[in-house]
Amino acid sequence: MSSAPIRLGLLGFGEAAARLAKDFSQAGFTDIVAYSRSGAKAQPGDPLHQRAEAAGVKLVKTVGTLAKKSDLILALTPGKSALPALKKIRKYLRPDHLYVDASSNSAHNMEKAAEIVGSAAKFVDSSIMGPVDILGLKVPFVASGPHAAEFRDRMTPHGMVITVVGNNPGDASAMKLIRSVLMKGLAMLLLETMEAAQRRNILDAVIEDSSATFNDIPFQKIIKRYVGGTAVHCERRIHEMKECLELLHDMKSTDRATKSTIAMLREMVKMGMPQKFTSEPDSIHPVIDALIAARDGTKPA
Ligand SMILES: NC(=O)c1ccc[n+]([C@@H]2O[C@H](COP(=O)([O-])OP(=O)(O)OC[C@H]3O[C@@H](n4cnc5c(N)ncnc54)[C@H](OP(=O)(O)O)[C@@H]3O)[C@@H](O)[C@H]2O)c1
Repeated sequence: MSSAPIRLGLLGFGEAAARLAKDFSQAGFTDIVAYSRSGAKAQPGDPLHQRAEAAGVKLVKTVGTLAKKSDLILALTPGKSALPALKKIRKYLRPDHLYVDASSNSAHNMEKAAEIVGSAAKFVDSSIMGPVDILGLKVPFVASGPHAAEFRDRMTPHGMVITVVGNNPGDASAMKLIRSVLMKGLAMLLLETMEAAQRRNILDAVIEDSSATFNDIPFQKIIKRYVGGTAVHCERRIHEMKECLELLHDMKSTDRATKSTIAMLREMVKMGMPQKFTSEPDSIHPVIDALIAARDGTKPA
């Protein structure tokens, strides 16, 4: 691995790139270059030039120049622009380039991006897991693919926070989306719960009670208890959840999350989970393996 100073190229120069560039400059990076279509056309006096100057960045007019003047290219375009931008720069890439695509994207598009890059450069799929304008260089990145460790090893000494999450391009982007399944799903479940509570005029009591249930339990324990416990008790929980549904209907309260819960519990019963798990397992892995095997019609790993 080279110990020479890293020449950084930013493909896209919007909110994320400008803030990261400012922090990179403060961390001692010089010669940072950036390309965006509007930046390439910006006339003297254009606010983009002031933005670039404030961030210690030189705007370049072509992707060819960007590639020539950088060793690590950090692509920070909107998700839909990631592949078009990559196709444009592809022919200028060198095998020693690290090409890190940190756009918010589907796993499928990042697999495609890795294919497009091929052996022309070292491709890394990456996702930004927080707000760049607030956290700057301290914003957590996840990265995947065969060159993700090189990205981490070269950039963490300069203040970036990078976790390698998988061996394949697409894993990092999938991780961000899978996290949204939890976070956004949890938000909806909270909304459904709190609406029902408010309709009974017990909202504050429910907030207090549910907080007391979850406060002080490490989330890893919550995952283990809730996943394992559901495998064991799915059958009897259907009955309880039907009563919940009845209550929601009586109050004309939202019921979508509860209906999904009942549907998933029924599915788990059909999969034979209570027979497979008579007591809570030590880890959630066998439950998840059994669930996937039943859904896919294969044998658990
Ligand atoms: N900002 C954050 O806090 C944050 C957090 C997590 C993830 N992200 C992700 O990071 C990426 C960048 O975010 P952002 O907030 O910086 O977006 P942004 O402010 O909209 O900036 C996007 C930049 O990409 C450029 N661009 C668009 N198409 C291009 C192309 N084909 N070739 C070259 N440059 C192109 C745009 O300029 P032109 O249109 O002039 O080319 C612009 O400079 C997004 O995928 C976003 O989801 C951002």
